[in-house]
Amino acid sequence: MAAQILDGKTMSEEIRREVAERAAALKERGVTPGLAVILVGNDPASEIYVRNKGKGCEETGMLSRTIRMDASASQDELENEIEKLNRDDAIHGILVQLPLPAHLDEQAALAKILPEKDVDGFHMINAGRLMTGTEGVVPCTPKGALYMIRSTGIDLNGREAVVIGRSNIVGKPMAMLLLQQNCTVTVCHSRTKDLASHTRRADILVAAVGKPGFVTADMVKPGAVVIDVGINRVDGKVCGDVDFQAVREVAGWITPVPGGVGKMTIAMLLMNTVDAAERAAGRA
Ligand code: GUN
Repeated sequence: MAAQILDGKTMSEEIRREVAERAAALKERGVTPGLAVILVGNDPASEIYVRNKGKGCEETGMLSRTIRMDASASQDELENEIEKLNRDDAIHGILVQLPLPAHLDEQAALAKILPEKDVDGFHMINAGRLMTGTEGVVPCTPKGALYMIRSTGIDLNGREAVVIGRSNIVGKPMAMLLLQQNCTVTVCHSRTKDLASHTRRADILVAAVGKPGFVTADMVKPGAVVIDVGINRVDGKVCGDVDFQAVREVAGWITPVPGGVGKMTIAMLLMNTVDAAERAAGRA
């Protein structure tokens, strides 16, 4: 039997409705949640992501501000923009779109964002909070992926979870979240030997590789939950890291691309922004 599709469109719409309600309640208290996105340079994929983030804010009644900087911007110029936004009471969330041009220091820039405004959850304080299981901001893509995994209703206790990819944005935080759910977690990466021997054991398989069709049907345990984080472009068409047509015949649940995790990433960003605005309003 073909896998059930985990529909990111429907799930993200539910989250957006909740975010819009919470944003409206804040507005009644005189606070409009505000997200600032800094885009350095004009990478075409980043342009699309940034546009979608701004659109998401507007659709849920939040303020969105995009700060565009030239590809040749210096580290000081970037950090000055971040510090201005840190001081701006109308802005509750700050996001620096990655990747940055190669001459800029990503970690140093992220470290300048006030941790309470770090709606991406990339600041080392928030990364540390996730690692230690204390309350903090959780990165949007793994948070959205976990929401989809939980929507299957399966008991995650003691399940084998395999994450392919060890990035700070997806792989590492995803592993932490699955560990918090009491999964037995394996993180695989480009140096992993005999990858398929790991993936075939996975009850939950998360692919964050960046290679189209990388996960094939023979790598998947029958009945597994397969979460495809990849967003690749092949001949102008968007596809994931999983060979969807073949893997859906083996898996129990699978996320499509497009219409899967990507939609959830933006929904979780909106949720992290309204969370930040509520925290700020609570303090005011
Ligand atoms: N680039 C790719 N994914 C992301 C993300 O989730 N946040 C930011 N800031 N940049 C990204």
